[in-house]
Amino acid sequence: MGSNTLEIRQLNTSFLTQKGEVRAVMDVSLDVPEGKITGIVGESGCGKSVTAKSVMGLVKYPGKVMSGEILLDGRDIRDIPEKEKCALRGSEVSMIFQEPMTSLNPVIRIGKQVEEALLLHKDIPKEQARIRTVEMLESVGISDAGNRMRCYPHQLSGGLRQRVMIAMAMICRPKLLIADEPTTALDVTVEAQILRLMKKLCSGGTSILLISHNLGVIAQICDYVYVMYAGRIVECADTVTLFDHPAHPYTMGLLRAATSLRQDTEILETIPGVVPNLLHLPKGCSFAPRCGSCGDRCRGEMPLMYEAGEEGHMARCFMC
Ligand SMILES: Nc1ncnc2c1ncn2[C@@H]1O[C@H](COP(=O)(O)OP(=O)(O)O)[C@@H](O)[C@H]1O
Ligand SMILES: [Mg+2]
Repeated sequence: MGSNTLEIRQLNTSFLTQKGEVRAVMDVSLDVPEGKITGIVGESGCGKSVTAKSVMGLVKYPGKVMSGEILLDGRDIRDIPEKEKCALRGSEVSMIFQEPMTSLNPVIRIGKQVEEALLLHKDIPKEQARIRTVEMLESVGISDAGNRMRCYPHQLSGGLRQRVMIAMAMICRPKLLIADEPTTALDVTVEAQILRLMKKLCSGGTSILLISHNLGVIAQICDYVYVMYAGRIVECADTVTLFDHPAHPYTMGLLRAATSLRQDTEILETIPGVVPNLLHLPKGCSFAPRCGSCGDRCRGEMPLMYEAGEEGHMARCFMC
């Protein structure tokens, strides 16, 4: 068995707002094994991005990582000085976001932006940085990179901009890439291309944490999946098991919704109800108010993660 590039243990991240503590991430533990693609899936607002930002040390006031461990190659990076964190970001851990325009500088040519990501972390001559930049842009599928690198972000399509982001994230060959909804703004053809590209990067040795609200995206490339609901992991399994034998009623609901979409039915099946307010979580299981198979115990007590059949398959449900 290989080792884990990233291990998150009992992570709790809150927003200390005037109305009270919003517990965005609660007791989240997860592993991203070396050279694999690990997914986090869940509806909007369930804490996926806050989890990613906690790893990157990018949670902003009034948000705060309250407790837990974040181990990169076995080393806890949670409390290292900001200067060291800056050095890690980009060189060992990189992140790509949903909307590349918010991360690309609109007034700097894209080649220069990618090149600077390299020069910031690696002590190499400019000439060589230029060559590596062209190679990197070509390897993420930007043809005619020598010319295209002179473009400004607005001169490129959304798909090309996302490729530039990936090139920027990958140029220092980080151990870990965190991709937060990297294809959500793109059409399905471009989405499939970007996902294939991530798979290729992964087979080149990068461990990937892929975050998406879309089970279809997760199904295409992830080896193992964590399902999040209202700030907690509620199920985890290898991708095939999760899709063939989901154990948590929430995962089943997500799957039904995804299937009805795929079959183009007139009525889009959704999970009834809404994600609970993280300021006023129900006592007991957070999913209980929306759950079809909820019993008395579920309303009074938060379930732990229980074994759900196969090895490595766990679900936070009394009924599984
Ligand atoms: N700046 C903030 N102030 C207060 N609460 C926040 C803030 N940012 C996020 N949250 C809370 O954290 C929850 C999780 O957010 P997020 O991780 O962005 O969800 P998603 O799963 O869609 O990525 C939100 O539902 C919200 O309650
Ligand atoms: Mg998000």
